Amino acid sequence: MNSLMIKTLGFAALLILATIFVVTKLNIDIFADSVNALTIAGAIAVATITSAVAAKYINQMKTDTTSGKLAEENWDGIGEYENELPSGWAYTFLAVFMWSMWYGLAGYPIWAYSQIGEYNEEVLAYNAKFEETHKNASEETLKEMGESIFLVQCQQCHGATGDGLSGRAQDLTKHYSKEEVLNIIKNGQNALGAFPGGMPAGMASGADAEAIAAYVAGGFKGEKPAAFAACASCHGADGKGTPMVAPSIHGYDIHNVVSKGKKGKIGRMPAFGSMITPVQEKALTAYVQSLAK
Ligand code: HEC
Ligand code: HEC
Repeated sequence: MNSLMIKTLGFAALLILATIFVVTKLNIDIFADSVNALTIAGAIAVATITSAVAAKYINQMKTDTTSGKLAEENWDGIGEYENELPSGWAYTFLAVFMWSMWYGLAGYPIWAYSQIGEYNEEVLAYNAKFEETHKNASEETLKEMGESIFLVQCQQCHGATGDGLSGRAQDLTKHYSKEEVLNIIKNGQNALGAFPGGMPAGMASGADAEAIAAYVAGGFKGEKPAAFAACASCHGADGKGTPMVAPSIHGYDIHNVVSKGKKGKIGRMPAFGSMITPVQEKALTAYVQSLAK
């Protein structure tokens, strides 16, 4: 038995004894249960393997002689062997590289905890619960709900009574007047965020335009003028609008203006997007339409 081996065994024994000493100092009964015993067995194995591996390299440093092909370049006489990159290193490098790409591009941005994400999830869950609770709300409840939402989200521009604060925003207490409808027929309109193409100018003129404007501004009452066919192609035979093509012209089209906004002659109405849930939109519609009666 050479002296290196004796030193190695001594070192391993020292590590094991030190471990057992610390464990007994902590009042842990090694053989009380199998988990403790297994852990100690593991510690002994780790100490033994560590000592053996250290001894192997110390021995190699003592006895190794140089071999292999020297690279051409050298620095002040210090050269380098032309060794292949160990494949374990190469695979480890590749694995770490792939993992860091995944972590940087998807792992962290998508899976990491985020306070904003948690907040958004809570809002979504709350909104879903709200929708479920109120999905069959009566017209009266909707109107009351709509008024509360209006007072929070809309009154700073439209006024607490919806009168538009002397022209700051649309006066919601009246529908379009005949003059306003005539004006839209004559000049067209491209103000609602929901219809990028807008409405072309000059869809009707003269007596036809007068008759249509009176009919639309009057709330679609009485005989429908034949010339309304020019409007029906986009707004629908009943004027209730066609999705993606044209808004409802019965009162105001709350759905389109609230979700996509409007930038018209009076000013800019902000888009609320998905901040207003479907039930809230129904409530706002019930309330705003009750203002103009
Ligand atoms: C080619 C399709 C088309 C035709 C035909 C058409 N409209 Fe329109 N109309 C639209 C679109 C699109 C809008 C939304 C414009 C916008 O983005 O502001 C609109 C908007 C309006 C508005 C304003 C609605 C609001 O909420 O601001 C009124 C009023 C209106 N149209 C009346 C008429 C009348 C009356 C006719 C018939 C003479 C007519 N339209 C024919 C497409 C049409
Ligand atoms: C930042 C101010 C502002 C807020 C907040 C606001 N609006 Fe408006 N709204 C306007 C302006 C300005 C117009 C007129 C745009 C134009 O025609 O020039 C308008 C127009 C409208 C119209 C008429 C649309 C049409 O077809 O002509 C309706 C309906 C409306 N708003 C509803 C609402 C509701 C409901 C809310 C709350 C969810 C709201 N607004 C919040 C500024 C606002």
